Amino acid sequence: MFSKTLVAGLALAMAFAGSASAAQCKFEGDAAAGKTAANACKGCHLFDAGKPSRPTGPNLSAIYGSKAGTVADFKKYSDAMQAAAGKGVTWDDANLAAYIADPKAFLASVNGSEMKHGMMFQLKDEAKVAKVVAYLKALKDCK
Ligand code: HEC
Repeated sequence: MFSKTLVAGLALAMAFAGSASAAQCKFEGDAAAGKTAANACKGCHLFDAGKPSRPTGPNLSAIYGSKAGTVADFKKYSDAMQAAAGKGVTWDDANLAAYIADPKAFLASVNGSEMKHGMMFQLKDEAKVAKVVAYLKALKDCK
């Protein structure tokens, strides 16, 4: 009896702890679908604000609207990304969608020639790309 109550109490406490952080950022519609689709990025990127970038990729929590190649604690930007930064590329909807679908082609087109780039990943499903972009936008705005 006693232990059952204790377990229930613990479960309740955990539910509260969970909802406290989730309540800050509610994702709906495309952004919610994008959050799920963005699981494909988690091998390399983190999406939690306040956590340091992983060595495998910059933290993406505030990437929407920022200038390319400027996450301060990510030290491994490629030549192609640094060149794109020099050209003033910012991560608006169109640039994010193009980059996520084909990083090599996007960087080659903004830089005018193909250079060594770092993201060995492509999300080819256009609908998913749009949802991931909606998620990145909502994530930036949610704080
Ligand atoms: C295999 C590892 C890997 C995966 C998977 C991956 N990325 Fe990346 N990503 C990188 C690396 C490395 C960079 C830095 C690229 C460079 O410097 O050329 C990067 C850069 C980026 C940038 C530009 C960041 C900046 O600071 O300007 C965005 C946006 C991005 N990734 C989005 C995504 C999204 C969205 C997904 C999932 C759909 C994803 N990435 C999946 C490794 C990855």
